[in-house]
Amino acid sequence: MRVLITGSGGFVGSHLTQKLLDEGYEVIAGSTVLTEKKSKSNLKKVYLNVNDKDSIEEVLRKYNPEGIINLAAQSSVAKSWEIPEETLLVNVLGTLNIINSMCKNTPYAKFINIGSSEEYGLTAKNGEYLTEIMPCLPQNPYATSKLSAGQLALQSAKKHGLNILHVRAFNHFGPGQRLGFVVSDFASQIVNIEKGKSPSVINVGDLSAQRDFLYIKDLVNAYTLLLESKKLDLGIVNVCSGVPRKIEDILKYMITQSKREITVNLDSTKLRPSDVPFFVGSNGKIKETVEWESTVEFNDGLELTIEWWRQN
Ligand code: GDD
Repeated sequence: MRVLITGSGGFVGSHLTQKLLDEGYEVIAGSTVLTEKKSKSNLKKVYLNVNDKDSIEEVLRKYNPEGIINLAAQSSVAKSWEIPEETLLVNVLGTLNIINSMCKNTPYAKFINIGSSEEYGLTAKNGEYLTEIMPCLPQNPYATSKLSAGQLALQSAKKHGLNILHVRAFNHFGPGQRLGFVVSDFASQIVNIEKGKSPSVINVGDLSAQRDFLYIKDLVNAYTLLLESKKLDLGIVNVCSGVPRKIEDILKYMITQSKREITVNLDSTKLRPSDVPFFVGSNGKIKETVEWESTVEFNDGLELTIEWWRQN
């Protein structure tokens, strides 16, 4: 199967590219930044900017992908308060541009749009396991953009008879995730302290929040299985562990992995205008749809991530 990944140079994109290559797929790796590395026979690195319609047309016409996974996004909740316009431009209009081009050039392709648990917003406050049929009450520009993109994608599927599914990915982490996401922020600071590059203080934001995390390996495995599934009209599918974790507990465990004494400082600049206190998803639908289970113990994932920061 020939699969186009948009945003292939990002954290999830690069792990997914490698996973699909390992599984024998032909990957068209779309990115706004083209590296020097030469393409291999089963990997084509192409320029693709979801806000540049010509670049999408060119890639779809030339490579005729049978699957498309849209990972091109402004993915930071915190940043979406600073750059709401860009967040909407990339996440909403970018998605629409791909679907419009797909409708014209590759209407047979399977399109997986990657959304977010953030779409549920305040509905999550009830503390219930979020299922795909629950209402969404997004609380920040990022969440609004992902909800809009998902709705547009599913409307287009209905209108044009396209095979589109919208994934609501909950939090994820692992080697290669950039700064600005909680596990990377903690791991990088811990390693800088270990290396003597900074004083023994770790700056943190809201530690009371609870989130549902998957290690990157389990996340890209879920995306691959959904890509392979022959089931149609799946609509929205949560990808999550089903286990809520308090950010404070994650921090405590990560600090135990360091040989240094570390003190914690609440950095008010890391607090957000509104932070949903609790997110936990139901993974019943994905488990009914494909044979997926999370396989990496959460603390093992944290240790692998800290180790990656030590080596990089
Ligand atoms: N980033 C960050 N850095 N977050 C912190 C910190 C810190 O130092 N300290 C506490 N937090 C809290 C945040 O306030 C938030 O409640 C929680 O940790 C998780 O923050 P992020 O890792 O930035 O993730 P997010 O939940 O806002 O968004 C991520 O998950 C979404 C799925 O739920 C992103 O990966 C999104 O792209 C994704 O859709």
